Amino acid sequence: MTLTGLENSDLKLIIFGGKGGVGKTSCAVATALALSENFKTLLISTDPAHSVSDCLDQQIGYKVVKVDGTSNLSAIEVVADEALATFKTAHQSELKKLLETSTNLDSDDIEDMLTLSIPGIDEIMSFKTIIDFIEEGQYDKYIVDTAPTGHALRLISSPKLLDAWIKVASKMRWKYRYMVTSFSGSYEIDEVDKLLLNLKKTVKRIENILKDKTKCEFIPVCIPESMAISETGRLLADLSKFEIIPRQIIANNVMSSEDCSFCKRRKAGQLKYIQEISDVFNQLNKVEVPMFAEEIKGLQSLIQLRTYLFGDQLIN
Ligand SMILES: Nc1ncnc2c1ncn2[C@@H]1O[C@H](COP(=O)(O)OP(=O)(O)OP(=O)(O)O)[C@@H](O)[C@H]1O
Ligand SMILES: [Mg+2]
Repeated sequence: MTLTGLENSDLKLIIFGGKGGVGKTSCAVATALALSENFKTLLISTDPAHSVSDCLDQQIGYKVVKVDGTSNLSAIEVVADEALATFKTAHQSELKKLLETSTNLDSDDIEDMLTLSIPGIDEIMSFKTIIDFIEEGQYDKYIVDTAPTGHALRLISSPKLLDAWIKVASKMRWKYRYMVTSFSGSYEIDEVDKLLLNLKKTVKRIENILKDKTKCEFIPVCIPESMAISETGRLLADLSKFEIIPRQIIANNVMSSEDCSFCKRRKAGQLKYIQEISDVFNQLNKVEVPMFAEEIKGLQSLIQLRTYLFGDQLIN
């Protein structure tokens, strides 16, 4: 079996996730490479570990760059800390005003509060950057590589967390608005209200795209080992709470060689887990990728991986 349906023109956002070290980055990059043969593709790394740079053997940073040796593939790192710092710098005065007008805190306490993070805001700012790219529409496909399991979930749960924060902030504001209206007879929405409204819109935009199966697909990557299977099971259960239901799964690092006794034993040991992946995730299309003799680094080995993920055919 190979990965299917990624060529559908409505499908814009493809997110790879899974346990640490199972091959998420390799599969995300090989998929981006494959899609770029026919679609203008942007590969987005949300992993602070710069792993896409390592995998491509090319420096990728916080600005979009063309991937060497390809004609339609670009890449960028979108890291939460960076995205949050940009947000805080841009909206420091609104956040300060929110606290000044809605709490009894003195200025020292407000300064302390401002150094604290709003729940979910760092991840949501990196997600917002991704959605902004999609809405700009310069590319046909946006492939996202995430850091290990917890990170993909943090990214995906960030809209809910931020939404809860916006509700509390709006309630605090409502009291302030009530007081202003009582004293002056009228109230005009200010920059704090506008910020809350914009954040709410961001939450909605992200939720809309995440829940739309035609626009967004999550591809879990797993390996034939007990812990990886359990963790993938928990990941799928958590994703379903956000109405994200994957269609296919990659089983990576499958031993194919029986050339030596070590290989034979590894292969035999994997058999029950490969079966378990088929049984436990029986609703998913399973794509097996063999364990390569060498690490996957640079275009040559990525093209080899691409063949296991998609076969020899061009995707169009
Ligand atoms: N099928 C494979 N055969 C051989 N090596 C592989 C295979 N898949 C991945 N690797 C290698 O395993 C290592 C981990 O792969 P990769 O970085 O893609 O995993 P990851 O899930 O993104 O890891 P992390 O959780 O740290 O982000 C890399 O050195 C990669 O080259
Ligand atoms: Mg990775």
